[in-house]
Amino acid sequence: MGRAIVMTSGKGGVGKTTVTANLGMHLASRNYRVCLVDMDIGLNNLDVVMNMEDRVVYTMLDVIEKKCRLKEALVQDDYYPLLYLLSSGGLNRNLTIQLSEIKNIVNELHTMFDFILIDCPAGIDAGFKRAVSCADEALVITTPHLSSIRDADKVITILSSFNITNKHFVINRARGDLIQDKLMFDVHDIGRTLNIEFGGVIPEDDNAITNTSDKIKNNKIALNRAFDILTENILTGKKKLFDCTFKYRGLLGSIKRILKRSI
Ligand SMILES: Nc1ncnc2c1ncn2[C@@H]1O[C@H](COP(=O)(O)OP(=O)(O)OP(=O)(O)O)[C@@H](O)[C@H]1O
Ligand SMILES: [Mg+2]
Repeated sequence: MGRAIVMTSGKGGVGKTTVTANLGMHLASRNYRVCLVDMDIGLNNLDVVMNMEDRVVYTMLDVIEKKCRLKEALVQDDYYPLLYLLSSGGLNRNLTIQLSEIKNIVNELHTMFDFILIDCPAGIDAGFKRAVSCADEALVITTPHLSSIRDADKVITILSSFNITNKHFVINRARGDLIQDKLMFDVHDIGRTLNIEFGGVIPEDDNAITNTSDKIKNNKIALNRAFDILTENILTGKKKLFDCTFKYRGLLGSIKRILKRSI
């Protein structure tokens, strides 16, 4: 049986899709069979982030409508043969989705994959409930900003009414220079507020915007090192921290901080 993990946040635009895509690539690079499931029905963009948009023929909605079998709707990654995407397709058709239909699909994926990573829509309404109901574990994604942390906190409260056994928080878009200058919440501040297990820290990094499967091997990219640590934490239960303040410490670090802030 695979592990079904939902990326959720409450607040929009904090990095759920980015984390889903990168975590999927990192798990697949370690030889785990991974299926990314886009449950952001209507505003789906995991296919775009994964560079698979042109290869999606059938979607989850086609499987529900019995236009194809589940296997036919899975798109294999070009770079990692163990990585697949199940796209949701837009909601441009008159289809009422039953939770049981989506659950059946995820149940079938459990028999085929080690990890099912579910990209959840923003908000806490029907789409959120659908995505969360299919998962056993949750990564609650937040940025180090008050509005995002507050939404994450509300989501964590709501998650307690679902069958989620493991909840971890992931801080995305952390800025080492601002944290070092105490202008941004750090992992301890956020951990105290959210009061669930620590999962990982992902730095603010332009590579998040243009990430492609082959780039994740480049260890000089901070984003890759951070996702590598998050992957290890998920696989082992460790709580290793990617320290994004490291390069901003000491005399050289303070010069880097000044330079970064003056850009
Ligand atoms: N660590 C990061 N560093 C820099 N940019 C990032 C990072 N994470 C995400 N982004 C950028 O932030 C934007 C929003 O990210 P993403 O689409 O993953 O958020 P989301 O939570 O899935 O949004 P939505 O709620 O709309 O589904 C994207 O342009 C993405 O490239
Ligand atoms: Mg998204």
